[in-house]
Amino acid sequence: EKGEYRHFMQKEIHEQVRSLTDTLAGRVDFDKGLIQLPQLKLTAETARKINKIIITACGTAQHAGLVGKIYIEKIARIPVEVDIASEFRYRDPIIQPGTVVLSISQSGETADTLAAMEEGRQKGAILWSIVNAIGSQAMRVADGYISMQVGPEIGVASTKAFTAPLVDLYMLAVLLADLRGTLPVEQRKKLVNDLRMIPDLAGKCLEHEPEVMSIARDMKDARDALYLGRGINMPIAYEGALKLKEISYIHAEGYPAGEMKHGPIALIDKDMPVIALAPNDPWYEKMASQIEQAKARGGKVIAVATEGDKNVEHLADSCLWVPSIPWMLSPVLTVIPLQMLAYHIASIRGLDVDQPRNLAKSVTVE
Ligand code: F6R
Repeated sequence: EKGEYRHFMQKEIHEQVRSLTDTLAGRVDFDKGLIQLPQLKLTAETARKINKIIITACGTAQHAGLVGKIYIEKIARIPVEVDIASEFRYRDPIIQPGTVVLSISQSGETADTLAAMEEGRQKGAILWSIVNAIGSQAMRVADGYISMQVGPEIGVASTKAFTAPLVDLYMLAVLLADLRGTLPVEQRKKLVNDLRMIPDLAGKCLEHEPEVMSIARDMKDARDALYLGRGINMPIAYEGALKLKEISYIHAEGYPAGEMKHGPIALIDKDMPVIALAPNDPWYEKMASQIEQAKARGGKVIAVATEGDKNVEHLADSCLWVPSIPWMLSPVLTVIPLQMLAYHIASIRGLDVDQPRNLAKSVTVE
């Protein structure tokens, strides 16, 4: 049931306060600063043996994996590769003892993701999955799993099943580091405590919906759009662009901002909206200078920025605001205005938001 909302996608965007609350419930012990993921069946012995993690997924789920790479490498110091499942399965990938293949899938039935898991199984990998659909194949074949606590997702464009695995991957990184004995207690407590505010802050992002709608009205006739991000918010540029193209049919590209001068900057003119992710993270200064460069070439810049950031407010043409948060968790927030932006543009264009052309919710064929 859509209730007060026009589309399931809008409802599911708004459900993120609840889904993020449920994602933490029972897994995080804030008093002790500990994470529990019992369905992963991870022992300290196995955790210490892991020497590489290969994350494999498709589409939006793969973007979550790109953020997860930064979490696991930064917190647990285990090398991570992120691979598109349809590439991984045909490449004869190198899997050695101690390699984990971790797949991420909302439906748990995506053909390429399942085939990537099978490839991992054949080559002797430890198989994990992060899955939403209970009892799905990706859950059943794994040695251990994390179940997304988001409930059914009906809209074809994935929203709440993107933010939940971000938090799952963060919790996984903390658990791995803890079991391997490499995480100082104080640091662990800080990382765990930072999760506490996530649901409320997601709610604060949603309060900005009226401003997002006004930017959506400005952008509704664009032919193309460029999404730029760096570091932990680079995958959010990919994700924002994917959301826009799949439901509004506006051509959009996500790009690592540092790559602009190697080609794509040639595209910038007054008709090309540039959406720049510039929250308070370690790549902030670089993004601010990227905004200046796009402006200098006549581009129209919409920045995703931290509430109260006068500097970016001054540099950009308009801002999509997110509340302040420790940088590692910023992608959970920065994606929310981009979900709303894509939703409202498609909705203003009168499109079938929940059922975009040519797309299926569960891609069970190659
Ligand atoms: C985009 C979207 C798709 C899916 C992809 C994988 O909004 O939903 O890109 O993320 O088809 O699906 P799952 O997660 O079911 O394996």
